[in-house]
Amino acid sequence: MWLAAGRAAELDRPGTFITRDVAGASVLLVRGPDGRLQGFHNVCRHRGTRLCVTDAGTFAGSIQCPYHAWTYGLDGALLAAPQMDEAVGFTKADYPLRPVACETWDGHIFINLSDEPPPLWEQIRGLPQQTMHRRGAELVAEIERSRGEEAPPAAECPVTTTLPAPSTATAWA
Ligand code: FES
Repeated sequence: MWLAAGRAAELDRPGTFITRDVAGASVLLVRGPDGRLQGFHNVCRHRGTRLCVTDAGTFAGSIQCPYHAWTYGLDGALLAAPQMDEAVGFTKADYPLRPVACETWDGHIFINLSDEPPPLWEQIRGLPQQTMHRRGAELVAEIERSRGEEAPPAAECPVTTTLPAPSTATAWA
């Protein structure tokens, strides 16, 4: 199941992050250098230490475990694993942060802990139509407030557009 996890605007530049506790799991949401929002389990691949203990903040280019300093890129790739270079058979590429599915719709972040989640749009199908009237009314109210006028009742909202069904989840981002 997809769960609302925050607003994309909270992560407004590369390196910004938030953490969320969901069903006993800690999830780390990070804005990558390419602007993409990514979700990871907030757990080091070495000994399972929680990587990030604060609710929000900004990483300075990488994510470093406080225990033995394994260091991950903002894309979750393991960049450095001190004292593991000599370990036979150890390959950094085998130990990226474990991903958590993450999508956005209408500025809302949704996460899904399933390994193979269904597309977000399957769960929120119909939501755009259900909320369009309210969102239209909010927009009219905001315009009227900016003019110093009182907003009309929601029933008089002139927004009647019906959104087309999306073909993919990315169409909703
Ligand atoms: S537990 Fe994270 S580096 Fe060892």
